Amino acid sequence: MPSEDTPRIIVERNGPYIVRGNVPLVEQSQEMSEFGEPLSWIRGEVLRDGGNYALCRCGKSKNKPFCDDTHEDVGFEGTEAADTGQIADRRKTFRSPKIFIKDDHSLCMHSGFCGTRLTDIWKMRADSNDSEVLAEIIAMIERCPSGTLTYTLGPDEEIMEPDLPKEVGVIPDGPIWITGGIPVERSDGQPLETRNRVTLCRCGASSQMPLCDGSHKDIGFSAP
Ligand code: FES
Repeated sequence: MPSEDTPRIIVERNGPYIVRGNVPLVEQSQEMSEFGEPLSWIRGEVLRDGGNYALCRCGKSKNKPFCDDTHEDVGFEGTEAADTGQIADRRKTFRSPKIFIKDDHSLCMHSGFCGTRLTDIWKMRADSNDSEVLAEIIAMIERCPSGTLTYTLGPDEEIMEPDLPKEVGVIPDGPIWITGGIPVERSDGQPLETRNRVTLCRCGASSQMPLCDGSHKDIGFSAP
């Protein structure tokens, strides 16, 4: 059994996320271009410095991002359908001269960092011999919050991951962003694969609970 001090997130059945182990809770917003394209992450205010806390999963709390037990009043059903298998068994590899892009599309929540109105990393990879293009592809992959996208620099090399702190981020009008490899445990005790970047649904509408699947955009979820 992990100790109370071990950072971890436990999904309560039809209820909130319980964050244990003194994990900071911070605001994480996106810097956008004039065309509405996400460019970078802006780490904002620290909402909790640590301790244990419960975060809303149903999307209805009046005290978001914290749980206020509204899930009980609204009869929230948060069926956990996300695959608990390994990303290595799901991702596809897109080869190019200098970079091998790995894509597990089942994790995609459409944050949009992988492209602009003019291009995207799949088109750019053909020009990855150009070091500036290569650097931009890597930066775009590393901004992907869900970890859908990763990369290697050779066919047999290790997956590269950005160095991210153990933190829980709150994205306005979007999911909870877990960074730094914090274990997430389903309500039945089964662990999800522990990954460096994970996005958890907090709008209550994902069909891949507890993971965000982008449904917050479809339902117009609005939350600070
Ligand atoms: S926050 Fe619920 S689907 Fe993204």
